[in-house]
Amino acid sequence: MKRFSLLTILVCFLLVSAGLQAQTYTPTPENLRVREQFRTDRFGMFIHWGLYSQLGSGEWVQHEWKIPHKTYEKLAGQFNPTQFSADAIVLAAKSAGMRYITITTKHHDGFCLWDSKLTTFDVIDATPFKRDIIKEMAEACKRHGITLCLYYSLLDWHHPDYLTTGNHGKLGFMGGRGNADFSKYVDYMCGQLTEILTNYGPIGAIWFDGEWENKPANWEFDKIYRAIHKAQPACLIGNNHHANVRPGEDFQMFEKDLPGQNSHGWANHAADVAKDLPLEMCETMNGSWGFKLNDNKFKSSASLTKLLTQCAAADANLLLNVGPMSNGLLQPEFVDTLSKIGSWMKVNGATIYGTRGGITRSWGVTTQKDNQILMHIFKPEDGRVYLPLTGKKVVGIVRSSKGNAAITFRQDANGVTVNVPSDIASQEVLTLTWK
Ligand code: GLC
Repeated sequence: MKRFSLLTILVCFLLVSAGLQAQTYTPTPENLRVREQFRTDRFGMFIHWGLYSQLGSGEWVQHEWKIPHKTYEKLAGQFNPTQFSADAIVLAAKSAGMRYITITTKHHDGFCLWDSKLTTFDVIDATPFKRDIIKEMAEACKRHGITLCLYYSLLDWHHPDYLTTGNHGKLGFMGGRGNADFSKYVDYMCGQLTEILTNYGPIGAIWFDGEWENKPANWEFDKIYRAIHKAQPACLIGNNHHANVRPGEDFQMFEKDLPGQNSHGWANHAADVAKDLPLEMCETMNGSWGFKLNDNKFKSSASLTKLLTQCAAADANLLLNVGPMSNGLLQPEFVDTLSKIGSWMKVNGATIYGTRGGITRSWGVTTQKDNQILMHIFKPEDGRVYLPLTGKKVVGIVRSSKGNAAITFRQDANGVTVNVPSDIASQEVLTLTWK
């Protein structure tokens, strides 16, 4: 009994001190500036790429086919994406209007796309390709003025010190790890994060994923987050843990959902949208993150630009995913969709970049910037839409797509009734200026 209470006191002490340490995080001025820039940029490219692209069945293939990790390692010996061009991918993102790229450095399979000194399961040591993909991406991003952000999986099906006590460990494909020492694994992660934050220039953000596989493990996020902010104080930290933002995190992410929605039942997203942090939604261009040969459910460019405006209206960025093929190229369908999105962004980018959220209605959504409200019309109701607006006098409303032709409207104390022209195109923008 006495031992139990001593133990309880010790555990409480450790928890409280970890909590206190975490709460002492104060973002640096550079970090706050990067947050602002991240929000201004609004649109990014997510890249899921790794050994799994060779099997054409998504990034979970090892788990789904229960491929023992020793067998899975053989894929490294065949990974030779000679047609990979970082410039081509960065330029595809840039011409789509994307301003940052978040690429997987290590996904759940544990394979590293950079030259890590802490494992041989990486692109330099284990593959015939022997080119540091993260280095090439960092250089190309720098050349083309795109911010590079890095995804890092907390979950690791390969590392011997990653615990097998989580949901996946029970399936057996991760191999026997009777002596796994999780604190060593945490040190491994801190070491790897320090590598990727030291050798590739300024990194916009670290994007964590996979903690949900083993929630009770002692993740020591305080230590991990401190290692990141020590290496690059300005680097943002986000964690796809499907839970409330924790101290030390700089932005909040929503997987396949607008902030506040919870269509997959993964999260308490609906309850806790962070008030002051940048927000980001990530989404796929078909139904898969990693390359899936048989996934032809490609989303149209119109539905994706609509999603982008919905994100902006919800004050969130959109991180839109591509999964390159094993030869290093993007699927032609993605290239085509990206270029169509780019054409839309050339005309409408100003209604997205640097804006803040607005309202969402059945007729469409709004974003706002300075003294303007940008009305993205999806579906006008009876040729009219109503916009709540108080304390601001409307100076005029113009139809940006038609040489700024004036639109008639009627303002009352609570809002504005806008007469929408009958020939309005889908997703056309009306710009309301107030004073
Ligand atoms: C999920 C998937 C993972 C993917 C991520 C992207 O967490 O498990 O494979 O990388 O979503 O949001």
